[in-house]
Amino acid sequence: MSLPSAQTLWASLPVPAILIDAEDRLIDLNPSAEHFLNTSEKMLRGQPIFDRLAIDAPLEQVFARVRANHSTLYINEVDVGTGDRAPVICNLQAAPLTGTEGAILLLISPREFADRIGRGQGMKTAARSAIGMAEMLAHEIKNPLAGITGAAQLLSMNLAAEDVELADLIVEESRRIVKLLEQVEQFGNLRPPERKAVNIHDVLDRARKSALLGFASHMTVLEDYDPSLPATLGDADQLLQVVLNLLKNAAEAAGGTPGTIRIHTFYDLSLRLRRADGGGTPLPLQIEITDDGPGIPPEIAGDIFDPFVSGRENGTGLGLALVSKIVADHQGWITADSVPGRTTFRLSLPVAPKSQEAN
Ligand SMILES: Nc1ncnc2c1ncn2[C@@H]1O[C@H](COP(=O)(O)OP(=O)(O)OP(=O)(O)O)[C@@H](O)[C@H]1O
Ligand SMILES: [Mg+2]
Repeated sequence: MSLPSAQTLWASLPVPAILIDAEDRLIDLNPSAEHFLNTSEKMLRGQPIFDRLAIDAPLEQVFARVRANHSTLYINEVDVGTGDRAPVICNLQAAPLTGTEGAILLLISPREFADRIGRGQGMKTAARSAIGMAEMLAHEIKNPLAGITGAAQLLSMNLAAEDVELADLIVEESRRIVKLLEQVEQFGNLRPPERKAVNIHDVLDRARKSALLGFASHMTVLEDYDPSLPATLGDADQLLQVVLNLLKNAAEAAGGTPGTIRIHTFYDLSLRLRRADGGGTPLPLQIEITDDGPGIPPEIAGDIFDPFVSGRENGTGLGLALVSKIVADHQGWITADSVPGRTTFRLSLPVAPKSQEAN
């Protein structure tokens, strides 16, 4: 079949899409956007977008950044309202329009279906009960396993040399199972975070040093920090676990060959997390961990934050599930973006209130 025209593509796009010129006026919207805004393209053409759309986010700043950096920005969970309709929670994407200076393509995904298609971090109910089941099993398996290990060790004292090897194998493999079970149990034991003002760069430094001494010794880890970032409100030990897990995955993705990990921190006010009670927490502290490995296997990309989803031979698939849980407990947000040669995990965290900072 021949490729459809740009016009056909534009009309078929199932996501509300709006084109905005350099002066923030609406130049075009696709049928899906007409439907979403409950108005026609003719009514809106040439109008300033801020007159027609009420968006609960600093959109002017977002557009300015998109134009200045020529890069796409994501704004999650914002209210989008029109004059005559109740606001709907949406995820927005603002991308510079290639070839037209200052023009922006704005995609609006209403949350109901943003959740369905997005790589949301929230743990699905089935996954949560799988963890509960595994925790129970872990507890039950550990005792008999300790018995097996002990018996194998006793046996090996009286065995001929060639059989000792076999007994050692039992002990070693049992240890591997115990380690896996302990990881599962970590979930159950994960206490609610003790949140204090934490300098995120201290956490990153600790993680980086320990990674370079251990699992990431074959990697170069670059720091690109904004030293003026204010403190976050978090549990330093749990945040360390998060960063270590992300660094470990990045190092493992390189598969033993030298690779580069970049840790980038910056301030970005455009992201807000909407809470169940209707309030919104701004999440301006951004930590990005980017590696130049092969990327997340596409077939699991939508599920990597679920437990037991792994693309590695010896992976348990619990690393990112734990990350996701800790981040959610911190009222933060984590997203992944991956193409071969560039995989970025972006962690967004709230700022500690001023009264906390003296601690
Ligand atoms: N930086 C990355 N590059 C490529 N793939 C990644 C990256 N981070 C995660 N993944 C993919 O996501 C999967 C899930 O990661 P997760 O940390 O949850 O589990 P795991 O690393 O397989 O096992 P565990 O962390 O429990 O040892 C990985 O197996 C890998 O396929
Ligand atoms: Mg992992």
